[in-house]
Amino acid sequence: MTVIPVKMKKTVLVSGGVGFIGSHVTVELIEAGYDVVVADNFSNCDRTCYEGVKKITGREDIPLVEMDFCDLAAVRKIFADYPIDAVIHFAAFKAVGESVAKPLMYYRNNLTSFLNVLEAAQEKGGVNVLFSSSATVYGEPDAVPVTENTPRKPATSPYGNTKTMCEDILRDTVKASGGALKGILLRYFNPIGAHPSALIGELPRGVPNNLVPYITQTAVGKRECLSIFGNDYPTEDGTCLRDYIDIVDLAKAHVFAVTRMVEGKMKQDCEVFNIGTGRPVSVLELVNAFEKVNGVKVPHKFAPRRAGDVTAIWADPTLANEEMGWKATRSVEETLAAAWAWEKHLAGK
Ligand code: WQD
Repeated sequence: MTVIPVKMKKTVLVSGGVGFIGSHVTVELIEAGYDVVVADNFSNCDRTCYEGVKKITGREDIPLVEMDFCDLAAVRKIFADYPIDAVIHFAAFKAVGESVAKPLMYYRNNLTSFLNVLEAAQEKGGVNVLFSSSATVYGEPDAVPVTENTPRKPATSPYGNTKTMCEDILRDTVKASGGALKGILLRYFNPIGAHPSALIGELPRGVPNNLVPYITQTAVGKRECLSIFGNDYPTEDGTCLRDYIDIVDLAKAHVFAVTRMVEGKMKQDCEVFNIGTGRPVSVLELVNAFEKVNGVKVPHKFAPRRAGDVTAIWADPTLANEEMGWKATRSVEETLAAAWAWEKHLAGK
């Protein structure tokens, strides 16, 4: 699958562009021929990932604006300073557990930053908005795989709630704009892995909450033992099922979505796509695959279920496959090898 290069030079603003997903998306946009403006407040990322993006793309001239999207004046300024055709909004807090402890911090940050992006986009007019949503909006689904028409369920955390709320805010704003704004919501399943160059990847602060960084840190010796949360779920091996999607595949989906917007190919003013592989993998299967492909042991034990976890969720990605022409291509093994290469790079090995 090759990304079709964009016909006219277009500029994309990537908020949170130095983060895990943002940095990979920036690389793919540049490789597809877009001009990218990266903006970040460095609250949960490291400048080395910006350096990695420059190295991978061979481009020294990628604008980087250090700013907080909760500052409306700063958001207005970046929209005034650059000829922005589309904005991809990643800048948000994302730790589920922390959001339960600090809901106001999550609502204030994640809602204010997005409201500011929409305010500035609306004032400018003609801007396309891509929002990074999550499969978390489906809650514990009644049936799997989930399509875009699967009903959303009440979120189990303030973090998840901000995703649902931002989806609604975008939809309402696009509707009220009378065609001046267009929007796409991408609902990600479980993004994992790293760029094959091992120059950019995930940089969790403190103890990782997500499975794959916990696996790689255990394998490298930074953590003693991985706890597998629950082995009594009603699945084949008793552990939860998820749709783990390679970060580069996920990043490419953004290029397809932005191109669809800027080339006027949208069928509705606000569209939704599931971004997943359609392939359920259990926690145990993932751990075993990691050990096998990388030839390294991941000490693990079974632990009680984690509060708020759903038993099984994976995507029906047919709409994104057929309508956008995007498809996930990487195998779980390739992705887990890339995740391990990145962890070793971090460890200086
Ligand atoms: C995956 C599976 C755990 C850690 C979350 C957010 C979602 C999205 C991605 C991010 C589950 C199990 C995990 C560990 C384990 N947002 N696990 N031991 O919970 O599917 O999704 O991250 O910004 O919105 O909810 O992903 O990686 O945390 O967990 O056994 O140490 O791994 O129980 O079954 P999850 P995850």
